[in-house]
Amino acid sequence: MGRSIGIDLGTTNTVVAVLHEGRPQVVEDDKGYRVLPSVVSVDDFGTATVGHAARNKILTDPDRTVYAFKRLMGRRFDSEQAVEARKRVGYEIRPAADGLCTLRLGNQVLTPVEVSALVLQTAKEMAERALGEPVDEAVITVPAYFNHQQRAATFEAARVAGLRCERLLNEPTAAALAYGFRRDSDRTIVVYDLGGGTFDVSVLHLSGGVYEILATKGDTYLGGEDFDYRLVDYLADHFQTQTGVDLREDRTALQRIKDAAERAKCELSFTDRTTVLVPRITPQHNLELAVTRLTLESLVEDLVDRTLDVTRRALSDAGLQLSDIDDVILVGGQTRMPRVREAISGLFGREPSRGVHPEEVVAIGAAVHAASLTDRDDAPQHVLIDVTPFDLGIDVIGGLFQPIIPRNTHVPTSETRAFATSQDDQEAVRVTVRQGDSRFADENEFLGEFIMSGLTPAPRMQTKVEVTFRIDSNGMLHVSAMEPGTGESRRITIRN
Ligand SMILES: Nc1ncnc2c1ncn2[C@@H]1O[C@H](COP(=O)(O)OP(=O)(O)OP(=O)(O)O)[C@@H](O)[C@H]1O
Ligand SMILES: [Mg+2]
Repeated sequence: MGRSIGIDLGTTNTVVAVLHEGRPQVVEDDKGYRVLPSVVSVDDFGTATVGHAARNKILTDPDRTVYAFKRLMGRRFDSEQAVEARKRVGYEIRPAADGLCTLRLGNQVLTPVEVSALVLQTAKEMAERALGEPVDEAVITVPAYFNHQQRAATFEAARVAGLRCERLLNEPTAAALAYGFRRDSDRTIVVYDLGGGTFDVSVLHLSGGVYEILATKGDTYLGGEDFDYRLVDYLADHFQTQTGVDLREDRTALQRIKDAAERAKCELSFTDRTTVLVPRITPQHNLELAVTRLTLESLVEDLVDRTLDVTRRALSDAGLQLSDIDDVILVGGQTRMPRVREAISGLFGREPSRGVHPEEVVAIGAAVHAASLTDRDDAPQHVLIDVTPFDLGIDVIGGLFQPIIPRNTHVPTSETRAFATSQDDQEAVRVTVRQGDSRFADENEFLGEFIMSGLTPAPRMQTKVEVTFRIDSNGMLHVSAMEPGTGESRRITIRN
């Protein structure tokens, strides 16, 4: 049997780590890079380039090069997020037969799952090269706020890549594991993870090797990419005022501004002022504009505020006050922005923890967890008690939503509720599964539905149906229904 590794499959960067002689290590590629950009470029023969080489092609071959595809995992083509992505990216997003998204790259069509699988396969090969032995198992991290479909898509990507995914681990939980590794502490901490595409915040208690998540909240469509787009719009608006040309209508120009904007954003974490220069953005013009740190901060202020709101709500779900928190861990490249650090320090009235590498800590935690799942004598020992982030339930009469598993319930878990038929001789019931915190069904996100037919004819309210929701350790939901009178049951796979 091969080795098991930890993989942080990020929106921007993928990081691979292993536990080697009891110490977690980030895997380097043959050029010494410690991150693998989550970018894939495909030519007309279907040959894929992954990582740094593909990243360079975002500018030269924007219509054949995909990035930030994690934001499309398990998402419907008509979802708000896919509609937003379609306006922004250089590649073409199309509807798939099952309602999800496909990506058209030149003459090739791939799904976000297949593209993710190419990144995972490259990550696996990097680890095999570094370790000199086969790797066939991995713990893969996902945003804590990923829903069932997004998790199922990630699981499937691992399968396509030839990896057995032993566990989908929540990213903030992984960061906490890395933080707590070899540290004997009894602490209540907050993990604030603002990466390239997603935002998660978890409140945890660590004690004697037990990691108990108290609450988790987030937004799977809020990250550094959105900070970049604010600057892109600022630059494009300025250019339009000066020249009358809207650069957003030209995909190649758009990718060039996006690239320049991201670089300027990162520079402004170290300097107060920088100049964005994109030569010959149109045949007649260069794009040139000085941007200050203050301007950038004003452009993204509401995004930073949104993360603070989510953080406050996570604390309130955990039943804690700001002053109950012993330590705040900042994870994700976007937390390198000074304004983000200041906002968090301001909220908690303390400096966040230093000594955690924001881009590597999640992969390290995944490697520690992967090692703990082996039966080796020196395997690290810890207990993880994670939670489900959403209320999960079904539609009931009157357009209402009945939660079956409330958010922040420990997983794995299982809950059963009995429902009665509403009409005489009713033969079938439709079970519609949703997530969300509204009392009204249609305000919550639809996850899937099934019909249980062949019920025993009887006057209304006499025939009972028991619906069971089970959430496994990967955070995936399994729903089944049974008529207790007959023992007849139906199981459904949750799908859009
Ligand atoms: N010095 C910096 N200042 C500001 N932002 C930065 C800096 N360095 C990196 N970033 C931003 O951090 C983001 C990438 O962070 P990271 O690698 O943690 O994301 P990820 O793990 O790939 O994404 P996610 O966790 O959301 O799936 C990018 O948007 C990048 O522009
Ligand atoms: Mg990340």
